[in-house]
Amino acid sequence: MKLHSLLGLVGLGCLASAAQLQPRNYEAQDYYVLHLSSETAPSQVAVKLGLTHEGQLGELEDHHIFSTHKQEEDVVHTALKERRRRKRSLGDSDILDGVKFAQKQKLKARMEKRGLMPPRDSTGDVLERQDAPANEAQLKQSAIAKTLGISDPIFNEQWHLMNTVQVGHDVNVSDVWMQGITGQGAIVAIVDDGLDMYSDDLKGNYFAEGSYDFNDNTLEPKPRLSDDKHGTRCAGEVSAVKNDVCGVGVAWDSKIAGIRILSKLITDADEAVAMNYAFQKNQIYSCSWGPPDDGRSMDAPGILIKRAMLNAVQKGRAGLGSIYVFASGNGAANEDNCNFDGYTNSIYSITVGAIDRKGLHPYYSEKCSAQLVVTYSSGSGDAIHTTDVGTNACYSGHGGTSAAAPLAAGIFALVLQIRPDLTWRDMQYLVMQTALPIDIDSGEWQTTSIGKKFSHTFGYGKIDTWATVEAAKNFVNVKPQAWYYSPWIHVNQAIPQGEQGLAVSFEVSAAMLKAANLERLEHVTVTMNVAHTRRGDLSVELISPDKVVSHLSVSRRMDQATEGYEDWTFMSVVHWGESGIGTWTIIVKDTVVNEYNGTFTDWHLKLWGESIDSEKATLLPMPEETDDDNHAEIISTTTIAGTTTSITPPATATSLMANPTDHPDRPINSKPSGTDEESKPTSATSTPSASPSATAASSWLPSFFPTFGVSAKTQVWIYGSLALILIFCSGLGIYFYIARRKRLLANPRDEWEFDLLEEDEAEGLNGTGRKGGAKNKRRAGELYDAFAAGSDEEEDQFSDLSEGEEEERRKYRDTEGKHVIGDEEGDSDVEGGDEKTGQHDKLIGSTEPK
Ligand SMILES: *[C@@H]1O[C@H](CO)[C@@H](O)[C@H](O)[C@H]1NC(C)=O
Ligand SMILES: *[C@@H]1O[C@H](CO)[C@@H](O)[C@H](O)[C@H]1NC(C)=O
Repeated sequence: MKLHSLLGLVGLGCLASAAQLQPRNYEAQDYYVLHLSSETAPSQVAVKLGLTHEGQLGELEDHHIFSTHKQEEDVVHTALKERRRRKRSLGDSDILDGVKFAQKQKLKARMEKRGLMPPRDSTGDVLERQDAPANEAQLKQSAIAKTLGISDPIFNEQWHLMNTVQVGHDVNVSDVWMQGITGQGAIVAIVDDGLDMYSDDLKGNYFAEGSYDFNDNTLEPKPRLSDDKHGTRCAGEVSAVKNDVCGVGVAWDSKIAGIRILSKLITDADEAVAMNYAFQKNQIYSCSWGPPDDGRSMDAPGILIKRAMLNAVQKGRAGLGSIYVFASGNGAANEDNCNFDGYTNSIYSITVGAIDRKGLHPYYSEKCSAQLVVTYSSGSGDAIHTTDVGTNACYSGHGGTSAAAPLAAGIFALVLQIRPDLTWRDMQYLVMQTALPIDIDSGEWQTTSIGKKFSHTFGYGKIDTWATVEAAKNFVNVKPQAWYYSPWIHVNQAIPQGEQGLAVSFEVSAAMLKAANLERLEHVTVTMNVAHTRRGDLSVELISPDKVVSHLSVSRRMDQATEGYEDWTFMSVVHWGESGIGTWTIIVKDTVVNEYNGTFTDWHLKLWGESIDSEKATLLPMPEETDDDNHAEIISTTTIAGTTTSITPPATATSLMANPTDHPDRPINSKPSGTDEESKPTSATSTPSASPSATAASSWLPSFFPTFGVSAKTQVWIYGSLALILIFCSGLGIYFYIARRKRLLANPRDEWEFDLLEEDEAEGLNGTGRKGGAKNKRRAGELYDAFAAGSDEEEDQFSDLSEGEEEERRKYRDTEGKHVIGDEEGDSDVEGGDEKTGQHDKLIGSTEPK
């Protein structure tokens, strides 16, 4: 708590010094974000560069925004390059040496709202119910409404709050309300396309101080476009006032803020400010949007947004951390998966998927190992009934995972009423611990090391508000966060096609985690590079020392991208509570036998969790674009060619549910204990030996046998597995020694590093003056390849547009409101380093809500 109050002071200090928001004029001005050393005066930098200092970038310390008139050139890049050249020859010092990072801002691809069209027969169930005689659930509903004084006209239609038809299929909130827990004191911000603060159903709870319109640069996030309705509908689910208008929010006494960002194109700088907006007051940020859910996008927030999110969990809410809630995405029918979205797979967000009023998995709700929980939304003929834009307007067709995330956010607001001291991680623990597994016979649940059930479709299950609030009452705050990063593990092996995979193990010792002050796991992330000529053919599994399996990536039939995975980070919440000690195995598969093939280049395991000693805990440094670039810090590894289907998902995501679970009857593993001292300290740079794979073999085998003979269905499964285990074991004889630091010429990464070395000399290689021109060109080419099979011929026409023309086109499409052409994250400069744009491979997005 001491740490928290200290951080709180720091946080409040930042708030006080935060610059006023300046309106942006993207038609006439260019904007640059510079990260300066704390002793460098932004005003002097502005003078030196001939720019106007617009103030600090939101809540990001030492980040400043500068403007100048619009021009083709990246003037900061040019000046910094010149400065470095001069420094090398003269060795003098200069104000520009205090620039740690610079990025010219570009309008980014618009995020998509995660709503859906309402089902056609959306009133069917309601009518049916009204005709039927009153049942027990209806009587209870009337009694509750009477006791609490709820006379909202559509309260009876709000089945997600009290379902009188499919009894039990609601958020189980009524007895929480009866205890007087209705969200008092809690504040939720809806980051979306606006919030109608003049709606009679919202104005009583509207929180102006936490609200801002980043699209039209005004204090009121009022819906202005004809389809700016999504945010208001989300807001109604959380905080619609108990009155005579429409229904009630799940936390009807909470305050609701609107942060409008989805109605026009914005830059990474704007989004970074928005995601930290009023973060000492706004407690929960509900985000029902993200990159397109088209089954082929793979997009993560830019570095400034990543920094803003980390900043929020470290400084927001007086150091307890802002709580981000994200909708998992609506692309399941496209085989999209929320691990291809850098917002939903961030460890800082609680990712929420959907179930429908019958408790079924709706066709749209995305699966992934980063999904923590699900709650109610559209499907089975109905949707969420909520407030709409207008003084007294209701909506009965709100749906998609868009409607699930705010419902969860509202439930978390109830929790914060009674436990405002919970940290962002406490909230994740609470949600994980109290979620209720559903549809348990679907066969895709596995029991985790701590005895919880996890499904990639439902996360840890559905939120039970009552259970969550009860557990919150006595929740003991967890210790601060700690982390362990493995070195880069180089593989550089061709991936066999078909059901076989390429398995690589890494041994984590007790000593490593002790040195990292890491007691038990929460999140696990894997950053990896896989070169492949058809990305959608790939799948990746991660198997923990306790034999719990994360499907980090699944094959996606629509994903024809030719760049594979480039420093992409996957995330898993499946290993929550494990010790982390032992052999971690990653299996990369090329699931389709065809002409497209690839190579598993390297990977990097990061374990995140609770610290052993709070006193030794530190705050994670801000992410740098160069964070994943230190591939020189390599360990060579043994690889195991071939693997077993018993620990792998079927080739396609859609058949995931139909198959037996990976470990139907896997016993709950007890935590390894007392191994700290005896355990062999494996040095991060140890030379390869037979031990990693040998360990893998001995520990894998026993886990398969208990599953044998469980049912006829499973037996078939197991027989296949045994055959493959034989293949696997013979594969153990094959070890590959990969020389440290030695790179194959064919490795695309080497090409990139060559670019890096040439950084200062690369001037003029391309029209924009940025380095890495060849790389960018290649990426653009891949983009259009990726869309070549699509039906939108229009897109092809723009592949040769210059940056300026593209800008024009973008505006045009924006006003059309149909499509937008976005960008990779803006150009950037890092002193002496890298400006690799990383994971932004999606350049075109559609704005149409699905
Ligand atoms: C719902 O809340 C009630 C208390 O009102 C509780 O007894 C019950 O266990 C909760 N969960 C379910 C699934 O009913
Ligand atoms: C991919 O296939 C081509 C053509 O058969 C072959 O030349 C190449 O070596 C293969 N690459 C890998 C990584 O297997």
